Amino acid sequence: MISVSGVHKNFKSGEQAVAALNGIDLQVGKKEFFVLLGPSGSGKTTLMRCIAGLEKPDAGNIILDGKTVFSASPRSNVPPEERQIGMVFQSYAIWPHMTVAENIGLVLTHGPARLSQNEARERIRHALRLVQLDDFEKRPARLLSGGQQQRVALARALAINPKLLLMDEPLSNLDARLREEVRTKIKKLVSELGITVLYVTHDQVEAMVLADRIAVMAHGEILQVGNPYELYRNPKSALVAEFFGSMNWLRGKVLDKYYVETEIGRLEVDFRGETNGRVVVGIRPEDMKIDASKEILRNQIEGTMAHSTFVGDQMIFEIRVNDTLLTAKAMPDGKRPEGKVSLYFPKEKMVVFPDISSE
Ligand SMILES: Nc1ncnc2c1ncn2[C@@H]1O[C@H](COP(=O)(O)OP(=O)(O)O)[C@@H](O)[C@H]1O
Ligand SMILES: [Mg+2]
Repeated sequence: MISVSGVHKNFKSGEQAVAALNGIDLQVGKKEFFVLLGPSGSGKTTLMRCIAGLEKPDAGNIILDGKTVFSASPRSNVPPEERQIGMVFQSYAIWPHMTVAENIGLVLTHGPARLSQNEARERIRHALRLVQLDDFEKRPARLLSGGQQQRVALARALAINPKLLLMDEPLSNLDARLREEVRTKIKKLVSELGITVLYVTHDQVEAMVLADRIAVMAHGEILQVGNPYELYRNPKSALVAEFFGSMNWLRGKVLDKYYVETEIGRLEVDFRGETNGRVVVGIRPEDMKIDASKEILRNQIEGTMAHSTFVGDQMIFEIRVNDTLLTAKAMPDGKRPEGKVSLYFPKEKMVVFPDISSE
Protein backbone atom coordinates (compact mmCIF):
# COMPACT_ATOMS: atom_id res chain seq x y z
CA MET A 1 0.00 0.00 0.00
CA ILE A 2 2.87 2.34 0.88
CA SER A 3 6.27 1.92 -0.70
CA VAL A 4 8.97 4.41 0.19
CA SER A 5 12.47 4.03 -1.19
CA GLY A 6 15.63 6.02 -0.80
CA VAL A 7 13.88 9.08 0.59
CA HIS A 8 16.12 11.92 1.78
CA LYS A 9 14.97 15.25 3.15
CA ASN A 10 17.19 18.08 4.32
CA PHE A 11 16.04 21.27 5.98
CA LYS A 12 18.06 24.45 5.98
CA SER A 13 18.45 25.84 9.44
CA GLY A 14 20.40 29.08 9.13
CA GLU A 15 23.70 28.17 7.48
CA GLN A 16 23.38 24.50 8.39
CA ALA A 17 21.47 21.70 6.71
CA VAL A 18 19.58 19.29 8.95
CA ALA A 19 19.18 15.78 7.55
CA ALA A 20 15.63 15.07 8.73
CA LEU A 21 15.37 11.90 6.62
CA ASN A 22 18.47 9.99 5.71
CA GLY A 23 17.65 7.27 3.16
CA ILE A 24 14.28 5.85 4.23
CA ASP A 25 13.03 2.54 2.81
CA LEU A 26 9.64 1.40 4.01
CA GLN A 27 6.96 -1.03 2.90
CA VAL A 28 3.50 -1.01 4.46
CA GLY A 29 0.98 -3.66 3.47
CA LYS A 30 -2.74 -3.23 2.73
CA LYS A 31 -4.86 -2.93 5.89
CA GLU A 32 -1.79 -2.93 8.04
CA PHE A 33 -1.65 -0.84 11.23
CA PHE A 34 1.91 0.43 10.96
CA VAL A 35 3.52 2.59 13.64
CA LEU A 36 6.53 4.91 13.33
CA LEU A 37 8.13 5.03 16.76
CA GLY A 38 11.04 7.24 17.73
CA PRO A 39 12.20 10.04 19.99
CA SER A 40 11.39 13.66 19.26
CA GLY A 41 13.35 14.95 16.26
CA SER A 42 13.89 11.50 14.71
CA GLY A 43 12.04 12.43 11.50
CA LYS A 44 8.64 10.81 12.05
CA THR A 45 6.55 13.86 11.16
CA THR A 46 8.74 14.68 8.17
CA LEU A 47 8.31 11.14 6.77
CA MET A 48 4.55 11.36 7.32
CA ARG A 49 4.39 14.75 5.59
CA CYS A 50 6.41 13.45 2.63
CA ILE A 51 3.93 10.60 2.21
CA ALA A 52 1.01 13.02 2.46
CA GLY A 53 2.61 15.35 -0.10
CA LEU A 54 2.93 18.24 2.36
CA GLU A 55 6.70 18.06 2.14
CA LYS A 56 8.83 17.39 -0.96
CA PRO A 57 11.72 14.93 -0.54
CA ASP A 58 15.15 15.75 -2.00
CA ALA A 59 15.61 12.23 -3.30
CA GLY A 60 13.82 8.90 -3.60
CA ASN A 61 10.34 7.87 -4.55
CA ILE A 62 6.99 7.15 -2.94
CA ILE A 63 4.32 4.82 -4.31
CA LEU A 64 0.80 4.70 -2.85
CA ASP A 65 -1.53 1.89 -3.83
CA GLY A 66 0.49 1.15 -6.96
CA LYS A 67 0.66 4.77 -8.10
CA THR A 68 3.85 6.84 -7.99
CA VAL A 69 3.00 10.00 -6.07
CA PHE A 70 6.53 11.29 -5.77
CA SER A 71 9.68 10.62 -7.73
CA ALA A 72 12.87 12.66 -7.76
CA SER A 73 13.84 11.43 -11.22
CA PRO A 74 11.98 11.44 -13.47
CA ARG A 75 10.34 14.25 -11.52
CA SER A 76 6.76 13.75 -10.50
CA ASN A 77 4.78 15.02 -7.56
CA VAL A 78 1.06 14.42 -7.02
CA PRO A 79 -0.48 17.21 -4.89
CA PRO A 80 -1.73 16.22 -1.41
CA GLU A 81 -5.45 16.60 -2.16
CA GLU A 82 -5.16 14.07 -5.00
CA ARG A 83 -3.49 11.41 -2.86
CA GLN A 84 -6.77 10.37 -1.15
CA ILE A 85 -5.21 10.29 2.28
CA GLY A 86 -6.97 11.04 5.56
CA MET A 87 -4.82 12.88 8.07
CA VAL A 88 -5.10 13.52 11.78
CA PHE A 89 -2.58 15.97 13.19
CA GLN A 90 -1.34 16.31 16.73
CA SER A 91 -3.00 19.73 16.98
CA TYR A 92 -6.28 18.44 15.40
CA ALA A 93 -6.47 21.65 13.31
CA ILE A 94 -10.16 22.16 14.12
CA TRP A 95 -11.60 25.59 13.29
CA PRO A 96 -13.08 26.91 16.56
CA HIS A 97 -15.46 29.39 14.90
CA MET A 98 -17.17 26.67 12.85
CA THR A 99 -19.60 23.96 13.83
CA VAL A 100 -18.59 20.33 13.89
CA ALA A 101 -20.40 19.69 10.59
CA GLU A 102 -18.75 22.68 8.92
CA ASN A 103 -15.31 21.49 10.02
CA ILE A 104 -15.87 18.12 8.43
CA GLY A 105 -17.78 19.44 5.42
CA LEU A 106 -14.99 21.74 4.26
CA VAL A 107 -12.93 18.99 2.63
CA LEU A 108 -16.02 17.42 1.10
CA THR A 109 -17.48 20.43 -0.65
CA HIS A 110 -14.25 22.26 -1.48
CA GLY A 111 -11.71 19.47 -1.97
CA PRO A 112 -11.42 17.37 -5.13
CA ALA A 113 -14.49 15.40 -3.98
CA ARG A 114 -16.82 18.41 -4.63
CA LEU A 115 -19.86 16.70 -3.21
CA SER A 116 -23.29 18.29 -3.30
CA GLN A 117 -24.64 19.67 -0.01
CA ASN A 118 -26.89 16.63 0.42
CA GLU A 119 -24.15 14.12 -0.29
CA ALA A 120 -21.83 15.96 2.07
CA ARG A 121 -24.43 15.95 4.85
CA GLU A 122 -24.83 12.19 4.49
CA ARG A 123 -21.03 11.70 4.66
CA ILE A 124 -20.73 13.96 7.70
CA ARG A 125 -23.46 12.03 9.53
CA HIS A 126 -21.84 8.75 8.68
CA ALA A 127 -18.39 9.90 9.80
CA LEU A 128 -19.75 11.26 13.08
CA ARG A 129 -21.55 7.99 13.70
CA LEU A 130 -18.24 6.14 13.26
CA VAL A 131 -16.61 8.17 16.03
CA GLN A 132 -19.77 8.12 18.20
CA LEU A 133 -20.57 11.82 17.97
CA ASP A 134 -23.97 11.30 16.35
CA ASP A 135 -25.76 14.41 17.56
CA PHE A 136 -22.86 16.85 17.43
CA GLU A 137 -23.31 18.27 13.90
CA LYS A 138 -24.49 21.72 14.96
CA ARG A 139 -22.25 22.02 18.00
CA PRO A 140 -19.75 24.92 17.79
CA ALA A 141 -16.28 23.38 17.72
CA ARG A 142 -15.03 25.67 20.48
CA LEU A 143 -17.42 23.99 22.93
CA LEU A 144 -15.86 20.56 22.47
CA SER A 145 -13.61 18.81 24.98
CA GLY A 146 -10.12 17.68 23.92
CA GLY A 147 -11.33 14.12 23.44
CA GLN A 148 -14.28 15.27 21.32
CA GLN A 149 -12.04 17.48 19.16
CA GLN A 150 -9.82 14.49 18.58
CA ARG A 151 -12.84 12.49 17.40
CA VAL A 152 -13.98 15.30 15.08
CA ALA A 153 -10.49 15.37 13.56
CA LEU A 154 -10.74 11.61 13.04
CA ALA A 155 -14.25 11.91 11.57
CA ARG A 156 -12.99 14.57 9.14
CA ALA A 157 -10.14 12.30 8.05
CA LEU A 158 -12.53 9.37 7.55
CA ALA A 159 -15.17 11.43 5.72
CA ILE A 160 -13.24 11.36 2.44
CA ASN A 161 -13.32 7.52 2.52
CA PRO A 162 -9.53 7.23 2.48
CA LYS A 163 -7.72 3.99 1.81
CA LEU A 164 -4.87 5.33 3.87
CA LEU A 165 -5.07 7.13 7.19
CA LEU A 166 -2.07 9.02 8.58
CA MET A 167 -2.09 9.93 12.26
CA ASP A 168 0.62 12.04 13.86
CA GLU A 169 0.64 11.67 17.67
CA PRO A 170 -3.17 12.01 17.72
CA LEU A 171 -3.53 11.19 21.42
CA SER A 172 -0.71 13.21 22.93
CA ASN A 173 -3.03 16.06 24.02
CA LEU A 174 -5.33 13.75 25.96
CA ASP A 175 -4.93 12.69 29.57
CA ALA A 176 -3.64 9.20 30.32
CA ARG A 177 -6.98 7.51 30.96
CA LEU A 178 -8.67 8.93 27.90
CA ARG A 179 -5.63 8.02 25.79
CA GLU A 180 -6.01 4.34 26.69
CA GLU A 181 -9.72 4.40 25.95
CA VAL A 182 -9.37 6.20 22.62
CA ARG A 183 -6.50 4.08 21.30
CA THR A 184 -8.56 0.91 21.74
CA LYS A 185 -11.45 2.53 19.87
CA ILE A 186 -9.20 3.69 17.02
CA LYS A 187 -7.73 0.24 16.61
CA LYS A 188 -11.18 -1.37 16.48
CA LEU A 189 -12.63 1.22 14.11
CA VAL A 190 -9.88 1.13 11.49
CA SER A 191 -9.81 -2.64 11.48
CA GLU A 192 -13.59 -2.69 10.88
CA LEU A 193 -13.22 -0.14 8.09
CA GLY A 194 -10.33 -2.12 6.58
CA ILE A 195 -8.10 0.89 5.99
CA THR A 196 -4.32 1.07 6.10
CA VAL A 197 -2.94 3.19 8.94
CA LEU A 198 0.41 4.86 9.37
CA TYR A 199 0.57 6.10 12.95
CA VAL A 200 3.27 8.21 14.57
CA THR A 201 4.08 8.12 18.27
CA HIS A 202 7.02 8.47 20.65
CA ASP A 203 5.21 6.29 23.21
CA GLN A 204 6.50 2.72 23.24
CA VAL A 205 3.42 1.27 24.99
CA GLU A 206 1.04 2.98 22.58
CA ALA A 207 3.06 1.59 19.67
CA MET A 208 2.97 -1.94 21.05
CA VAL A 209 -0.77 -1.85 21.78
CA LEU A 210 -1.73 -0.54 18.34
CA ALA A 211 0.75 -1.87 15.83
CA ASP A 212 0.78 -4.85 13.54
CA ARG A 213 4.34 -3.75 12.80
CA ILE A 214 6.56 -0.96 14.08
CA ALA A 215 9.47 0.90 12.48
CA VAL A 216 11.83 2.31 15.10
CA MET A 217 13.34 5.60 13.95
CA ALA A 218 16.31 7.64 15.15
CA HIS A 219 18.29 10.44 13.49
CA GLY A 220 16.28 10.28 10.27
CA GLU A 221 16.85 6.56 9.82
CA ILE A 222 14.87 3.39 10.38
CA LEU A 223 16.76 1.21 12.86
CA GLN A 224 14.54 -1.85 12.76
CA VAL A 225 11.13 -3.00 11.55
CA GLY A 226 9.18 -5.80 13.18
CA ASN A 227 6.11 -6.78 15.15
CA PRO A 228 6.04 -5.70 18.80
CA TYR A 229 7.16 -9.10 20.08
CA GLU A 230 10.15 -9.32 17.72
CA LEU A 231 11.32 -5.84 18.64
CA TYR A 232 11.00 -6.54 22.35
CA ARG A 233 12.64 -9.96 22.25
CA ASN A 234 15.12 -9.61 19.41
CA PRO A 235 16.30 -6.03 19.18
CA LYS A 236 19.11 -5.62 16.64
CA SER A 237 20.78 -2.80 18.55
CA ALA A 238 21.07 -1.44 22.07
CA LEU A 239 19.10 1.64 21.00
CA VAL A 240 16.10 -0.41 19.93
CA ALA A 241 16.33 -2.54 23.09
CA GLU A 242 16.35 0.61 25.22
CA PHE A 243 13.31 1.92 23.47
CA PHE A 244 11.21 -1.08 24.43
CA GLY A 245 11.24 -0.98 28.19
CA SER A 246 14.03 -1.22 30.68
CA MET A 247 17.22 -3.25 30.38
CA ASN A 248 20.12 -4.04 32.66
CA TRP A 249 23.34 -3.37 30.76
CA LEU A 250 26.65 -4.98 31.65
CA ARG A 251 29.91 -4.02 30.02
CA GLY A 252 32.27 -6.83 29.19
CA LYS A 253 34.86 -8.43 26.99
CA VAL A 254 34.28 -11.52 24.85
CA LEU A 255 36.50 -14.39 25.99
CA ASP A 256 35.48 -16.86 23.34
CA LYS A 257 32.37 -17.39 21.25
CA TYR A 258 30.12 -18.12 24.19
CA TYR A 259 31.61 -16.40 27.21
CA VAL A 260 31.78 -12.77 28.23
CA GLU A 261 33.74 -11.48 31.18
CA THR A 262 31.37 -8.79 32.46
CA GLU A 263 31.77 -6.23 35.21
CA ILE A 264 29.92 -8.58 37.57
CA GLY A 265 31.48 -11.88 36.50
CA ARG A 266 31.66 -14.42 33.71
CA LEU A 267 28.46 -15.17 31.78
CA GLU A 268 27.72 -17.75 29.13
CA VAL A 269 25.87 -16.02 26.29
CA ASP A 270 24.54 -16.84 22.86
CA PHE A 271 27.04 -14.81 20.83
CA ARG A 272 28.86 -15.76 17.67
CA GLY A 273 30.66 -12.49 17.01
CA GLU A 274 34.34 -11.75 17.25
CA THR A 275 36.29 -12.54 20.40
CA ASN A 276 38.30 -10.02 22.40
CA GLY A 277 35.73 -7.41 21.46
CA ARG A 278 34.20 -5.03 23.94
CA VAL A 279 30.49 -5.68 24.27
CA VAL A 280 27.45 -4.77 26.31
CA VAL A 281 25.24 -7.58 27.57
CA GLY A 282 21.59 -6.72 28.14
CA ILE A 283 18.97 -8.53 30.18
CA ARG A 284 15.43 -7.42 30.97
CA PRO A 285 14.39 -7.16 34.64
CA GLU A 286 11.72 -9.84 34.26
CA ASP A 287 14.23 -12.30 32.77
CA MET A 288 16.69 -12.18 35.64
CA LYS A 289 15.74 -14.79 38.21
CA ILE A 290 16.38 -14.52 41.90
CA ASP A 291 17.22 -17.91 43.28
CA ALA A 292 17.10 -18.46 47.00
CA SER A 293 18.99 -21.76 46.83
CA LYS A 294 22.32 -19.96 47.37
CA GLU A 295 24.07 -22.67 45.41
CA ILE A 296 26.10 -21.01 42.65
CA LEU A 297 25.64 -22.78 39.32
CA ARG A 298 26.38 -21.73 35.76
CA ASN A 299 25.29 -18.15 34.98
CA GLN A 300 24.48 -17.54 38.59
CA ILE A 301 26.09 -14.63 40.33
CA GLU A 302 25.87 -13.67 43.95
CA GLY A 303 24.53 -10.26 44.88
CA THR A 304 23.10 -8.36 47.81
CA MET A 305 19.48 -7.30 47.99
CA ALA A 306 19.53 -3.51 48.21
CA HIS A 307 15.84 -2.76 47.99
CA SER A 308 12.54 -4.44 47.23
CA THR A 309 9.25 -2.78 46.32
CA PHE A 310 5.81 -4.37 46.19
CA VAL A 311 3.65 -2.71 43.52
CA GLY A 312 0.65 -5.03 43.54
CA ASP A 313 1.04 -7.11 40.41
CA GLN A 314 4.80 -7.40 40.71
CA MET A 315 7.84 -7.13 42.93
CA ILE A 316 10.71 -4.87 41.89
CA PHE A 317 14.10 -5.77 43.33
CA GLU A 318 17.33 -3.82 43.30
CA ILE A 319 20.35 -6.00 43.72
CA ARG A 320 23.92 -4.88 44.13
CA VAL A 321 26.83 -6.83 42.67
CA ASN A 322 30.12 -5.07 43.42
CA ASP A 323 29.46 -1.51 42.18
CA THR A 324 26.69 -2.46 39.80
CA LEU A 325 23.02 -2.06 40.67
CA LEU A 326 20.68 -4.41 38.81
CA THR A 327 16.89 -4.39 38.60
CA ALA A 328 14.83 -7.58 38.65
CA LYS A 329 11.07 -8.04 38.44
CA ALA A 330 9.01 -11.02 39.59
CA MET A 331 5.48 -12.09 40.41
CA PRO A 332 4.84 -11.43 44.09
CA ASP A 333 4.83 -14.63 46.15
CA GLY A 334 4.70 -13.03 49.57
CA LYS A 335 8.44 -13.42 50.09
CA ARG A 336 10.98 -10.65 50.32
CA PRO A 337 14.49 -12.04 50.08
CA GLU A 338 17.07 -10.15 52.06
CA GLY A 339 20.85 -10.17 52.30
CA LYS A 340 22.80 -12.39 49.91
CA VAL A 341 20.86 -13.68 46.90
CA SER A 342 21.84 -15.65 43.86
CA LEU A 343 20.95 -14.15 40.48
CA TYR A 344 20.36 -16.38 37.50
CA PHE A 345 20.97 -15.05 33.96
CA PRO A 346 19.23 -17.34 31.41
CA LYS A 347 21.51 -17.59 28.39
CA GLU A 348 18.74 -17.37 25.79
CA LYS A 349 17.32 -14.21 27.35
CA MET A 350 20.46 -12.09 27.08
CA VAL A 351 21.30 -9.83 24.14
CA VAL A 352 24.87 -8.91 23.23
CA PHE A 353 25.97 -5.88 21.19
CA PRO A 354 29.31 -4.28 20.39
CA ASP A 355 30.13 -1.60 22.96
CA ILE A 356 30.30 1.47 20.75
CA SER A 357 31.03 3.78 23.68
CA SER A 358 34.44 2.10 24.15
CA GLU A 359 35.64 2.88 20.63
N1 LIG B 1 10.32 22.97 8.57
C1 LIG B 1 11.48 22.64 9.14
N2 LIG B 1 12.55 23.46 9.06
C2 LIG B 1 13.73 23.15 9.62
N3 LIG B 1 13.97 22.01 10.27
C3 LIG B 1 12.95 21.13 10.40
C4 LIG B 1 11.65 21.41 9.85
N4 LIG B 1 10.84 20.35 10.13
C5 LIG B 1 11.58 19.48 10.83
N5 LIG B 1 12.86 19.92 10.99
C6 LIG B 1 13.95 19.22 11.66
O1 LIG B 1 14.00 17.90 11.15
C7 LIG B 1 14.25 16.94 12.18
C8 LIG B 1 13.12 15.94 12.24
O2 LIG B 1 11.95 16.59 12.67
P1 LIG B 1 10.52 15.87 12.77
O3 LIG B 1 10.27 15.14 11.50
O4 LIG B 1 9.54 16.89 13.17
O5 LIG B 1 10.78 14.82 13.95
P2 LIG B 1 9.74 14.05 14.90
O6 LIG B 1 8.38 14.17 14.30
O7 LIG B 1 10.25 12.65 14.96
O8 LIG B 1 9.82 14.73 16.23
C9 LIG B 1 14.43 17.75 13.45
O9 LIG B 1 15.79 17.96 13.66
C10 LIG B 1 13.70 19.03 13.15
O10 LIG B 1 14.24 20.10 13.90
MG1 LIG C 1 6.62 14.97 15.15
